[in-house]
Amino acid sequence: MRSKKIITERNLELSKQIDKRRIPEHIAIIMDGNGRWATKKGLPRSFGHNKGVSVLKEIIKAAKNLGCRVLTVYAFSTENWTRPAKEVDYLINLFGKVLRKEIDEIHKESIKIKFIGDLSPFPETLKLVLKSSESITQNNQNFILNVCVNYGGRQEIVKVAKEIALKSFTGEIKASEVNEELFNSELLTKGVKDPELLIRTSGEKRISNFLLWQLAYSEIYITDVLWPDFNEVEFLKAIIDYQSRNRRFGGIESLPNESFEDSYCS
Ligand code: IPE
Ligand code: IPE
Ligand code: MG
Repeated sequence: MRSKKIITERNLELSKQIDKRRIPEHIAIIMDGNGRWATKKGLPRSFGHNKGVSVLKEIIKAAKNLGCRVLTVYAFSTENWTRPAKEVDYLINLFGKVLRKEIDEIHKESIKIKFIGDLSPFPETLKLVLKSSESITQNNQNFILNVCVNYGGRQEIVKVAKEIALKSFTGEIKASEVNEELFNSELLTKGVKDPELLIRTSGEKRISNFLLWQLAYSEIYITDVLWPDFNEVEFLKAIIDYQSRNRRFGGIESLPNESFEDSYCS
């Protein structure tokens, strides 16, 4: 009870530091550390995955309340198939179970859910649940939740290259027409702007094959907090950190009333 009160007070304190006009529109999250969280507590890794689901629910709510429009979360990578079959099966079952339980609430909250990745290796029953969740929520306008499952950034880029090669072969497009815009239009995230912010929990300083194209200019925030311990307070800290960054996109920070000649010697 007392710790809940402290968290709420900290939330309020952090919320005041946030510039509501500069909330990232699209946030991507590598939700890492479920296994380590459980192992540290002497529990099976599955407990970490379960706790991770409730954290995701809290962060969706927090992102939505802040005015963020899109959340893209990494739930299962193309490399995660190398884990023991028992863990892979557990995760696949968990996706279906959580979705069946939460879909009404997701729809009520006007969230449009999309699954990004190659769904073909998943069991038919799971594919049905994923596809029906997408179609139930397809016209929702408040918020987009992209869940990356069996997703790999390199595989996505290869897939786009294949589509473009095919269109060029059939004469639908000319090679000279291949540009970033066309490439974007073939991505699994088409229609959604690139994430301004990438959050990775549990300290690993790598991208692990996530959104390789889309993260080209995203700000990266890495926290040592394990995903099951992540919460609204930690999320607000990430936004505050993001807002302190100087996003130059290869340019230079403009100084008022100073020309190029004033600031550089010849
Ligand atoms: C992230 O947590 C969830 C998935 C990759 C599915 P991990 O399961 O990778 O947890 P750690 O990194 O082993 O602690
Ligand atoms: C990245 O986490 C994938 C997901 C969060 C789904 P991993 O735990 O699989 O990444 P590595 O193995 O640390 O690179
Ligand atoms: Mg991990």
